[in-house]
Amino acid sequence: MPDPYDIAPPLPKPALPGEVLVRESVDDLLDAMTSDMLFQAKSCVRAFGDFHLALSGGSTPEPLYRRLMYDQRVRDFPWKKTHLWQVDERCVADDDDRRNWKMIADLLLDHSDIPLAQTHPMPVLDPGGDLAYETSLREALEWREKGHDRLDYVVLGMGNDFHTASLFPGSVALDAPAGRLAVFNDGPGVVPPKRMTLTYEILNASRFLAVLITGKGKRDTIAKLVADSRDPHEAPIRGIRPLGGTLRWYLDRDACPE
Ligand code: 6PG
Repeated sequence: MPDPYDIAPPLPKPALPGEVLVRESVDDLLDAMTSDMLFQAKSCVRAFGDFHLALSGGSTPEPLYRRLMYDQRVRDFPWKKTHLWQVDERCVADDDDRRNWKMIADLLLDHSDIPLAQTHPMPVLDPGGDLAYETSLREALEWREKGHDRLDYVVLGMGNDFHTASLFPGSVALDAPAGRLAVFNDGPGVVPPKRMTLTYEILNASRFLAVLITGKGKRDTIAKLVADSRDPHEAPIRGIRPLGGTLRWYLDRDACPE
């Protein structure tokens, strides 16, 4: 007869900067993450009247975006007061399956009641698109706290080359000039095609940075991240250091080194 008081062994918690939240399964992890997102969204709507959310692409956040649309526990998410921004985008045509916005629109936008005027896809095919995006960000954010362009909640992922957003190892965007909030990025490490990405400056000014990493395929990369102190030029995720906001890693057990 198993001992009824036999408490399950604690989940591994990798020593990463900021807060680390580990759950046994992706489902349990998304329970926690969607609850945190709802709390942040409601707090910002109360404080500012709106909520500025920036989303990454890639495959990891897809279940999160689906969950936000069907989970009854977040049915009162303030989508009507939400501005949706992009963390990064591939410089390909609108209907190209590699477009992050296409995935975000399919999974989330088309099912939420975010007003169209509050959706902000990156204009990646416009040669001046990065400066235009930067202007949109400033116009939307600067009235809240003069000179502090702060996003409220940012969903980030991580590639196995330690990139996050479209900040790739050894790429020019890692050293974007002060004052730049969005830039095109290119270079040997950039997974083709060329990208547009938010810069460290605006990412690190955010109120809440959520790094969502799941699956055994990321375990070795997390282990290396914990084991050594490679420079952000080699491991761009290391350059994610919020100035005053929260950095929280959301990991499932599979992504955690034993
Ligand atoms: C992108 C993403 C990127 C992503 C990582 C992880 O445009 O690809 O914004 O930064 O977060 O590449 O991708 P996966 O979640 O697919 O592993």
